[in-house]
Amino acid sequence: MEKKKIILTGDRPTGRLHIGHYVGSLRRRVELQQADEYDKIFIFIADAQALTDNIDEPEKVRQSVIEVALDYLACGIDPAKSTIFIQSQIPELCELTFYYMDLVTVARLQRNPTVKTEIQMRHFEASIPVGFFTYPISQAADITAFKATTVPVGEDQEPMLEQTREIVRRFNHIYGETLVEPEILLPDGTASRRLPGTDGKAKMSKSLGNCIYLSDTADEVAEKVKGMYTDPTHLKVSDPGRLEGNAVFTYLDAFCKPEHFERYLNEYPDLEALKAHYTRGGLGDVKVKKFLTAILQEELTPIRERRKVFEKDIPAVYDMLRKGSEAARETAAQTLGDVRRAMRINYFDDQDLIREQAKRFGRE
Ligand code: TRP
Repeated sequence: MEKKKIILTGDRPTGRLHIGHYVGSLRRRVELQQADEYDKIFIFIADAQALTDNIDEPEKVRQSVIEVALDYLACGIDPAKSTIFIQSQIPELCELTFYYMDLVTVARLQRNPTVKTEIQMRHFEASIPVGFFTYPISQAADITAFKATTVPVGEDQEPMLEQTREIVRRFNHIYGETLVEPEILLPDGTASRRLPGTDGKAKMSKSLGNCIYLSDTADEVAEKVKGMYTDPTHLKVSDPGRLEGNAVFTYLDAFCKPEHFERYLNEYPDLEALKAHYTRGGLGDVKVKKFLTAILQEELTPIRERRKVFEKDIPAVYDMLRKGSEAARETAAQTLGDVRRAMRINYFDDQDLIREQAKRFGRE
């Protein structure tokens, strides 16, 4: 039988989703869903993982779950084609995590570069919560529970995929071929892989206040673009401008399509020509920012409008999440059954076991 193609991906619910999530992952998911190449698509809200570093903010996580669900639906993730679920509602994931913990060393976890950075960011150096430290293992459970072959995520998740593959290989080596080794699917183009904040800082993050949210109003988007970081040495229009580190141009790399020039800036044939003029001097930031605003509004308006429609029936959104979680749980339970069998801990559904033991003890 040919191996099924299964997608799994998710997000931590710590706030509304922003355009960094969009270009890094959401946009791709919708394309993959439309492409019809995959046998199953699972998209989940990683609330249990969010709690590993927000343990004292349960209400924030709870509020963000529905925000993320709305953002998914607004972007066009369709519950008829993709199973959308909430991580904490799948207890099988905890059990898998517990068994996988035996396959990973502390030293291996300490080498994870994403976890290293996060520990610094959260000032956890002196006292790392065990749950946070081990979240890469729980992420391996998320992925393998659904026998995912393909995990579309940003490049910061590469260490998690590597860790997952190692766990799968060790598990299969020790217990026999049971789990599926997943592959990462990175976004196309470097701009989409790491969209900087509006302040030009490395990453969009709520705590830095440098995000453009998918649910921002048109005015908010326009205001945020107006205040965006460009090239601090580009003071007069006639000054030559720099593209490196210039957030406005990085956003254009991520969002601009040739047809945008026809629609909004037809004196340039393409982005290369616009960049060349900017670098040469004679092109002001205001004009480039207006162009970017037009492009963002074109992309974000339908998302914003669709979100409003879903916001009108919140009970239906929870209902969708409940159904998705039930369906996901069935799949995870099957994998857990395979895992228990492979690990020889399926005592009560194995008739041979009891017979063999009875024979061994000479009572037959
Ligand atoms: N760690 C991911 C993030 O921060 C979220 C996540 C949890 C995830 N489990 C996953 C992504 C499994 C892909 C697959 O964005």
